Amino acid sequence: MCGITGYIGYRDAYPIIINGLKRLEYRGYDSAGVMLFDGTQINLSKTKGKVSVLEEKVNNEISNKGVIGIGHTRWATHGVPNDVNSHPHISQSGNLVIVHNGIIENYNTLKQELKTRGYTFKSDTDTEVLINLIEEIKTEHNVKLGKAVQIALNQVVGAYAIAVFDKTNPDEIVVARLGSPIAIGVGKDLKEFFIASDASPFIEYTKDAIYLEDEEMAIICQGKEVKVRKIKDDTLVDTDVQELQMNLEQIEKGGYEHFMLKEIYEQPRAIIDTYRGRLLREKGIIKMSGVEDNMGKFLNAERIVIVACGTSWHAALVAEYLFEDFARIPVEVEYASEFRYRNPVLTEKDIVIAISQSGETADTLAAIKLAKERGAFVFGVCNVVGSSIARETHAGAYTHAGPEIGVASTKAFTTQITVLSLMALRLARAKGTMSSSKYRHYLQELELIPQKVESLLKVDDHIKEIAKKYMLSNNCLYLGRGYNFPVALEGALKLKEISYIHAEGYPAAEMKHGPIALIDDRMPVIVIATSKGHYDKVVSNIQEIKSRSGKIIAVVTEGDTIVREIADHVIEVPETEEAFTPLLTTIPLQLLSYHIAVMRNCNVDQPRNLAKSVTVE
Ligand code: G6P
Repeated sequence: MCGITGYIGYRDAYPIIINGLKRLEYRGYDSAGVMLFDGTQINLSKTKGKVSVLEEKVNNEISNKGVIGIGHTRWATHGVPNDVNSHPHISQSGNLVIVHNGIIENYNTLKQELKTRGYTFKSDTDTEVLINLIEEIKTEHNVKLGKAVQIALNQVVGAYAIAVFDKTNPDEIVVARLGSPIAIGVGKDLKEFFIASDASPFIEYTKDAIYLEDEEMAIICQGKEVKVRKIKDDTLVDTDVQELQMNLEQIEKGGYEHFMLKEIYEQPRAIIDTYRGRLLREKGIIKMSGVEDNMGKFLNAERIVIVACGTSWHAALVAEYLFEDFARIPVEVEYASEFRYRNPVLTEKDIVIAISQSGETADTLAAIKLAKERGAFVFGVCNVVGSSIARETHAGAYTHAGPEIGVASTKAFTTQITVLSLMALRLARAKGTMSSSKYRHYLQELELIPQKVESLLKVDDHIKEIAKKYMLSNNCLYLGRGYNFPVALEGALKLKEISYIHAEGYPAAEMKHGPIALIDDRMPVIVIATSKGHYDKVVSNIQEIKSRSGKIIAVVTEGDTIVREIADHVIEVPETEEAFTPLLTTIPLQLLSYHIAVMRNCNVDQPRNLAKSVTVE
């Protein structure tokens, strides 16, 4: 994880770096640091805590002048979050400075070797080892920084995105990547360059960006074109300058108190953007080039294996129901982290779908690489355009949710389900497992979802009232069946993530095999009981909770009368086909978690210990 930023040009680097770090805080926020070069000396400040703490420290401690600098916001891997372990790290001579996102796995061996050559270490980090290795190579081989970085990286095992500065040659910053992302913003007439983990820190300055691929590096120097090279053998790579589609408005809060709330409210628009140009209801067709181009593979697939983590894994579970129900293709859903380490049986007849909002999750990436090695065709469902997973997969379909900044995923989930619904429908049609009238009906229903989400958002005040009653709970149970079982898991995850209340999601019928023992008059149970999904069975489960004095918050279909009689609170969602109910039932659960977290004074957008993009395994 971790976010890195850098600037080299003619403007004050500090505000660019500090604002960039704030935008990258979703990647980690347990400590932060900045290095500025004022033309003569290095000014470095770093601290445990968020970027706002760093800002105060910089104001009190160092000069913030200089037109070149690098910055970092950290999610600790090696060494606890404290001032010393924070980045940037400086080499023993005080000349070289580095920021790093990733893990150097052989750092201990390298550290012991460096110790024998007289190096001492202040921090517990792998990064301090790397910068001293670069320094040792630079001195020993008498080479410039770029060469030293290249030699060092060829000795390193692990993952990295780095930016390195050398006081003895202060006109350049060297960057490199393997496994962690790095983008270079190219300013007008090459007068300035920006470096960042994603393009958000420099979006207001330039729309031209170069994304390094794995095993590539570049020396960035004002006035010179960026030349990208292979770390391994120094060969030059064709540099592809891409035009960014993102705009500033998309990455700001736009009047909402939190990004999470903004992103919840953006869902009608995000779902439309995701199906726009794909769901052509009037023509009665779905067009998805990633699927069309590989239709033969999909039609011959004996099985689909879906790999993902976190919320994306919950979307994968919904997809399991969709693909099996609509297209009659057997599906297995795997945690990417388990899949990659358990020698899975895969053949060329398997299709692996990888789902990831960020497109950078290390475990999902590793699962993709494994699947490719075993000959499977890999299809990606990602939100971030140009991300590692989008590039690593054979084909894919983007969700068009726009940047998701709140750490707890919301619009990514519903747009993933939208893409997966379109895919399942398209495949059902191609396989002939769905009649054309049913298909048309589903297209119509899917098209109506955004306006139903919109109407659902209007009951926010009612959900807030419910949140007030349960904000002090210590535990919470979420139940759902069929398509809404994954929604129960997602609802519980949202509550855990942002309010730190222990919550569990269960298939409603499984309650009697354990969780029922937990139910008493202090246990809120959120039950999804929409009219079409095994309604009667869920009503029986609700009765069972009621008999044990549990507090019932039921998510029901508009007009429901039966559950209303039994439940303590009901939240109505508009009617739709059962397969699309997750797109609606998720919304009140997101809002409930959000309000409870706000009432408990939790940091909604940046919950403790979490990060949005988990680039470590
Ligand atoms: C982290 C985030 C989650 C996210 C998961 C998978 O844990 O906090 O919100 O669902 O990673 O991320 P991905 O980007 O692969 O969807």
